[in-house]
Amino acid sequence: MYKLKKMLVLVGLMGAGKSSVGKRLSEYLNVGFIDADQEIEKAAGMKIVEIFEKFGEKYFRAGEKKVINRLILGKPQVLSTGGGAFMSEEIRGVIKMHSFSIWLKADLETLWPRVSGKGNRPLLNNKYPKQELENLIIKRNPVYKKANITIESKSNISHLAMVDKIIKKLKKHNILTRTT
Ligand code: S3P
Repeated sequence: MYKLKKMLVLVGLMGAGKSSVGKRLSEYLNVGFIDADQEIEKAAGMKIVEIFEKFGEKYFRAGEKKVINRLILGKPQVLSTGGGAFMSEEIRGVIKMHSFSIWLKADLETLWPRVSGKGNRPLLNNKYPKQELENLIIKRNPVYKKANITIESKSNISHLAMVDKIIKKLKKHNILTRTT
């Protein structure tokens, strides 16, 4: 058994596997799992696509900041954030101060099949979604790189293998202590 010393925050683009890897990681560590996007939807009483449609991205980002500021202060567990959250300098600062961040890094070939045709990602609901996703990779990767550790996410790497890699790195960074 391990004891988690700090909140773990997963960052990275949509489709990188933050929620599914995050859930598995939390199960392995026997801690809770929170999805910031779901918490935003709960607080707003509507889906993210609807928030974007009705109130716009700026409003969504303000809600995202509020929710993450609240969740990050909880007891150490696994927190998955929406792909744009880490782009905010303020949110990055809060994440750095209170948690250990993990970037799930994935390329276009991995991400695209996972997000295409779903309609639930407002930033991709336009004429050239694949191009948009590629632009986001170029723009955001240098920022995601600021996370404490990077774990590669690819369709041929199982979630379990990713969890295994994360655990090894957490031990190395002294974020996990053995209790039994
Ligand atoms: C966004 C990613 C989404 C969600 C919103 C905006 C982004 O979360 O927060 O659609 O800016 O990349 P996921 O990364 O969980 O899909």
